[in-house]
Amino acid sequence: MANVVVIGAQWGDEGKGKVTDLLSKSADVVVRYQGGVNAGHTVVVKDQTFKLHLIPSGILYPETECIIGSGTVIDPKTLIEELDRLEALNISTQNLMISQTAHVTMPYHRLIDQASEERRGNHKIGTTGRGIGPTYADKSERIGIRILDLIDPEGLRKQLNWTINYKNVILEKLYDLPPLDPEAVIDEYEQYAQRLRPHVVDASLKIYDAVQEKRNILFEGAQGTLLDLDHGTYPYVTSSNPVAGGACVGAGVGPTMIDRVIGVAKAYTTRVGEGPFPTEMTEGVGDILCDRGAEFGTTTGRKRRCGWFDAVIGRYAVRINGIDCLAITKLDVLDELDEIKVCVAYEIDGTRCDNFPSSSRLFARCKPIYETLPGWQQSTMNCRTLEDLPKQALDYLKYLAELMAAPIAVVSIGASRDQTIIVEDPIHGPKRGLLDANGTPV
Ligand code: GDP
Ligand code: IMO
Ligand code: MG
Repeated sequence: MANVVVIGAQWGDEGKGKVTDLLSKSADVVVRYQGGVNAGHTVVVKDQTFKLHLIPSGILYPETECIIGSGTVIDPKTLIEELDRLEALNISTQNLMISQTAHVTMPYHRLIDQASEERRGNHKIGTTGRGIGPTYADKSERIGIRILDLIDPEGLRKQLNWTINYKNVILEKLYDLPPLDPEAVIDEYEQYAQRLRPHVVDASLKIYDAVQEKRNILFEGAQGTLLDLDHGTYPYVTSSNPVAGGACVGAGVGPTMIDRVIGVAKAYTTRVGEGPFPTEMTEGVGDILCDRGAEFGTTTGRKRRCGWFDAVIGRYAVRINGIDCLAITKLDVLDELDEIKVCVAYEIDGTRCDNFPSSSRLFARCKPIYETLPGWQQSTMNCRTLEDLPKQALDYLKYLAELMAAPIAVVSIGASRDQTIIVEDPIHGPKRGLLDANGTPV
């Protein structure tokens, strides 16, 4: 039995969907613990591509229970569309459970997200425009609507009447937008409530029962470490905690119930939205990575910014999440390159910096210090064991593991399930434990 957290070790889109789907085979329960429909997790099964936003990637296994946890924010309209899409493809959604204490994204959240981005001008964050920040802001301000309010018709009417009138002042006076009609919104959301009611549960209790029954639980993170509200490149972050610690709060489980953390990282780096990105390449190899990696956002279709692998943020992710092992994805995207660079440290005004600086202004001044490795210039997509890989590809992976001081358990060399090399059992492998200052296990 092992309860495992899967997290993104970079700026999101690392391939968490693929890795979660892969591991869901041996999970009884898969839990999403934060984020909302800003996430876009792609799972490719044979010739079918599934794009999931809120529903855990475990949904493709009929026996697996899927839970959308308390730490998420739920846009009911998009969730229902996602349910309909899966049902239309003959994927049962009967096993989907929704936490009664998750917060609901309302139309005013989306409007405020988009209007405030416009108002910020050059200071914009580049959000997905899905209302994520404003929903979490209302949660903190204690004026949020929770799923349990949504499914209580009388409570919903009372609460929404007050909240919409309050938000209308903001929409009209601050953003010059037309007010919302409370009755129309209430009617619309009552319909959503009817559809979602059968799925609503006390999620934390369900998860606790699963722990007691020694069932395998997989916690699926959305976004990535550098987008974490507390530990990422603030203010260019999302409004939740994608780091592994977020799984405890967002799912409602104690830290003692989590056995293992798996970090997912691309063999290079991407980022969507604004914010500093030291290894970014706006042309040349950056374009090759974007083309070969099909680096366009799953949720918004935006072009992802591309750059070399950054081992400083990799090491940081290992530390902040307590990563036991890594899954390195999209190695195949590097197949054609004659040489590959890895950022091993930064230079700030002539001084070497080995650690991720918390200040975004300082981070924006970091110049990458690169080591250059030879490329392999042949396809890795049909490799199924480490021995099948070209020597240069294996050396590259070894170098990444050494720089991050964490073992690589999984290597992905294509989007589909079978394009995977299992190096060691990612769920039951040895725990990494503590490292000394040189990154050697103690
Ligand atoms: P997530 O948000 O972390 O789940 O990642 P996304 O699904 O947004 O983006 C990852 C993209 O890369 C998806 O289109 C995947 O199908 C694709 N992908 C995953 N692993 C690999 C891989 O090893 N090689 C290639 N070429 N594509 C991959
Ligand atoms: P997955 O789960 C990549 C980014 C946005 C923006 C910032 C804040 O697919 O990895 P938000 O709408 O959350 O307020 O936007 O976070 N962002 C993501 N980038 N992958 C994601 O999710 C993301 N979710 C949000 O682009 O920079
Ligand atoms: Mg994604």
